[in-house]
Amino acid sequence: MNATAGKPQDRALPTHLLDLDTLAAKDILGLCDRAVQLRDTGSQAPAALQGMSVINLFFEGSTRTRSSFQLATERLGGRVLNFDVATSSTSKGETLLDTLKTLAAMSPDIFVVRHGTSGAANFVSQVLGEGFGIVNAGDGWHAHPTQGLADILTIREQLGDDWAQRRVVILGDILHSRTARSLVKGLSSLGTRDIRTVGPRTLQPARFEGVTMHSAVEDALPGADVVMALRLQRERMQRHSIPSQREYFELWGVTPERLDLAAPGAILMHPGPIGRGGDLASAAADGPASRIIEQVANGVAMRMAVLERIAGLLARQRKKGG
Ligand code: CP
Repeated sequence: MNATAGKPQDRALPTHLLDLDTLAAKDILGLCDRAVQLRDTGSQAPAALQGMSVINLFFEGSTRTRSSFQLATERLGGRVLNFDVATSSTSKGETLLDTLKTLAAMSPDIFVVRHGTSGAANFVSQVLGEGFGIVNAGDGWHAHPTQGLADILTIREQLGDDWAQRRVVILGDILHSRTARSLVKGLSSLGTRDIRTVGPRTLQPARFEGVTMHSAVEDALPGADVVMALRLQRERMQRHSIPSQREYFELWGVTPERLDLAAPGAILMHPGPIGRGGDLASAAADGPASRIIEQVANGVAMRMAVLERIAGLLARQRKKGG
């Protein structure tokens, strides 16, 4: 993907999407435009991935991301291999490095990588280098760029392009959220300055560039036009990060009453999977402000746009190389 000129991230290979800090505002908006075009083509999408293979290399569970990359690849005429970690030789102790070398020898074109360790996608990028497309599908707490892009597309479709005026609240387990980190990078590139986080102090990082941190929902929500709720990521938590589930929901759970504190017409988003009764009430998740299902639909369209772009760059690279 295009790198922003003059930044250290320039070193990112153009066919690798590891996080959103390598994309300029025009690249992000260009992908949004293309995602909408591709979504509108329905079954007539261009066969941009014809003759290409995508490996979904998922070492962590996923419903939305893996399924949407699979559908996106198939809609663009490509082939998908869903690497199943449970039945792979990873279960016999094969390392990530050896798994990569093995799969790379089978001449796929694009790797879509999810891993529980922050930095795993960068490691894959360094090991495989040029010649392959690499997309980070979520690594540890670090980054989830295609989720961030799908979320930006959803905000744009609901509220327009007035990014400097957006007031975005990210609520819940910020500390462990790769989605929050990528979304903040993308919004900051677009010019959004009023980004607030809210949640228990134990679930917020010590520092988070580009955001104002709050502990009380009542302080964070007034005036917000986007409320992004996050899941409690228990699998990444220390034992005592929250007092109890009941107290957490009482203090930070998303309810229709709390949403009323936000600006009129504010939208509720959540990258999923949602914790009904845990991080948000069903009445909020299924209520009129919710755009959670739109986010999922936009995830397929955005992944089509990303894969199409990488496939085009790979094809040009190969043509140049003879
Ligand atoms: N939002 C997201 O990454 O969901 P999955 O874990 O289901 O892919």
